[in-house]
Amino acid sequence: MLFTVDKTLKLLFGRVNNCSQEKSWCKIYRRRFFIAHFIVGLMVEFNIDWYKKLLEGTNEKEVLVQKIASFLEGKPHESCLEIGLGISPYFAQNLLKYFKKYVIVENRLLKEELPTGIELINKDWEKLDIDEKFDVIVASHVIYYFKDKKKAFEKMLSQLKEGGRIFFVVNGKESDYGPLKLAFSKLINEEYLFTYDELKDILEGHNVREYTLPSAVNFSSYEDLFETLKISFDAYPKEYEHLKDKIIEYFKENIKGNKFVIDQKIIEVIK
Ligand SMILES: C[S@@+](CC[C@H](N)C(=O)[O-])C[C@H]1O[C@@H](n2cnc3c(N)ncnc32)[C@H](O)[C@@H]1O
Repeated sequence: MLFTVDKTLKLLFGRVNNCSQEKSWCKIYRRRFFIAHFIVGLMVEFNIDWYKKLLEGTNEKEVLVQKIASFLEGKPHESCLEIGLGISPYFAQNLLKYFKKYVIVENRLLKEELPTGIELINKDWEKLDIDEKFDVIVASHVIYYFKDKKKAFEKMLSQLKEGGRIFFVVNGKESDYGPLKLAFSKLINEEYLFTYDELKDILEGHNVREYTLPSAVNFSSYEDLFETLKISFDAYPKEYEHLKDKIIEYFKENIKGNKFVIDQKIIEVIK
C-alpha cells in the first residue's frame, strides 16, 4: 500500500487548512509531518531513469560544482564525505583535488567505475556504522530520500570535525519550481511541504548560511518538460501521471520560452 505524507497525516490527524496564511499552523503541520514520517517510515524511492532524464536537460550540476569548489578554494582540507552519488561522480571529479581523502556513501549498487582516489562505501547512510570525522560533507539532492531526515542530519553532524562544513543542496521554492509544486498540490487537494522548509526546521539553532543559484531545465516541448520533471514528483508518481493534461496546461499558461528555472539552494552548516 502506498502512503503519501499527506494521506498519512489525514489518517493520523485530520486536515490542517490555510497553512500559508497562519505561520503557527504551518509549524504544527510541519511537526506533524515529522511524526508521520517517524510512525510510517515513509520513503521516496530514487528512480534512476527519471534522474537520467533530468540530467539530460539541466545545467544544475555545473552550477553547483562551481559554487562548492569556490567555497573550498585556497583552504587546506583533509577529508570530504559525499552522500548520494547519483550516476556519475560529478562532484568528486571536480572536488577531489581539494582533499587528501574523498569518501562517497551510496546505497545503490554501482556499475560505474569511480576515478582513483575515491573510496566508495556501498551502504545506506542511515544504517552505516562509521567512526571517522570529516572536514566537509556534501549532501546534494539526497535528503528527500532519507527515512528520518533529522536523524540523518544529526549523524552527519556527529561525523563532522569542529569547524567543519556540511553543504546540503535542495530545490528552493521560488522561480518556476515553487509555483508549479503549489499548483500541483492544489490539483491533488493536499498541502505541500517543501523539503527546503523541512530542512530549515531541522537546522534551526545551527550556524547556517544559504545561497541561491538558479539552474535551468531546457526543454523541446511541454511533453518533454513533463517527462524531465518527473523525478521532482517521485513522492506522487501516480498523481503526476494522472494529471498530465492539467500539468501541461499549466506549463502552457505559465512557462514561456524553453527554459524552466529551479533555484538550487546550497545550505551550508558550520559546526
Ligand atoms: C537524486 S540523486 C542525487 C545525486 C547527486 N548528489 C546530485 O546532486 O545529483 C540521490 C542519490 O542518493 C542516493 N541515496 C538515496 N538514499 C540514500 C541513502 N540513504 N544512503 C546513501 N545514498 C542514498 C540515491 O541512490 C541516488 O544515487
